[in-house]
Amino acid sequence: MAKIILTGDRPTGRLHIGHYVGSLRERVRLQNSGEYDKVFIMIADAQALTDNADNPEKVRQNIIEVALDYLACGLDPEKSVIFIQSQIPQLYELTAYYMNLVTVSRLQRNPTVKAEIQARDFEASIPVGFFTYPISQAADITAFQANTVPVGEDQMPMIEQTREIVRKFNMTYGEALTEPDILLPSNEVCQRLPGIDGKAKMSKSLDNCIYLSETADEIKKKVMNMYTDPDHIRVADPGKIEGNTVFTYLDAFCRKEHFGRYLPDYSSLDELKEHYQRGGLGDVKVKKFLYAVLLEYLKPIRARRTEFEKDIPAVYKMLEDGSRKAEAVAAQTLAAVKGAMRINYFSDVNLINEQAKRFKK
Ligand code: TRP
Repeated sequence: MAKIILTGDRPTGRLHIGHYVGSLRERVRLQNSGEYDKVFIMIADAQALTDNADNPEKVRQNIIEVALDYLACGLDPEKSVIFIQSQIPQLYELTAYYMNLVTVSRLQRNPTVKAEIQARDFEASIPVGFFTYPISQAADITAFQANTVPVGEDQMPMIEQTREIVRKFNMTYGEALTEPDILLPSNEVCQRLPGIDGKAKMSKSLDNCIYLSETADEIKKKVMNMYTDPDHIRVADPGKIEGNTVFTYLDAFCRKEHFGRYLPDYSSLDELKEHYQRGGLGDVKVKKFLYAVLLEYLKPIRARRTEFEKDIPAVYKMLEDGSRKAEAVAAQTLAAVKGAMRINYFSDVNLINEQAKRFKK
């Protein structure tokens, strides 16, 4: 069986380093591994509209930002099909048919939807489109017959719901769809990178992000203001590692060779942590090290972004070409789905002959 990846992001803002360690870095690695027959990367604008219906301009502006972030990180349109969700009408036809296979109570039990309804204060005024987005996400995945979906752990309930829809469909109508597996980032801290304020998760609405497109100065300012251990007041004081955002980021980004380059007094993260816990190691020193480590990742990303920014029409052209390719694939799946559901009236010669016979006097 062909190995196919599909994943994507809502275009509601520029991408940040949480996206990077949580999924982008892994996507680029998978893309370049040569192990996959096809890689589809989707900008989920229609899904973004399910809770931004009154602000399509925000979504419109951020499509190019996300596309630039993708290219800057190393996603390559020669190897991956990068496309825009709303340009693939087949996804909405699939969604409509899948809706018949899902109950309202099953959607209500989806933990991610539940949490989002709470976070957005939707209560009784949940838009139907938002409520049903897990079904449309099942369409996104199955339209490409993806078997691998690399996403963060918050997307686990979506993949589970997709698997249920696939099983139900295949059981009801015959095998036409592929059941996908989630692919989580291997490193635990990468799944939930906290914001620079130490709050739960890096997110635009909390204003606690380090964006991939940020300048070195902006990154430095943010790192120097990062949340550490509030009780670590003097350098000599013993410090805490747990909940200390600077160390959490080092867990996500730091590799052994960084010490040789930027902090040769230490040979490993464990040694650095131990000194911090013992006392005698100041926050500023650790922050400067983190800044150097982050810059090693982010500087080339920003440099590539700046190059792509010079030819914006080419980026839109890339998205248009990707969307055409994606549509051709989704059309094949839709045809198979309609065939399985026996709603392919005009392309089914048997049907026409049978009916003709039945009505013959
Ligand atoms: N729900 C994803 C997010 O919020 C975006 C998304 C939409 C997606 N459709 C998808 C991810 C299909 C993986 C597969 O980031």
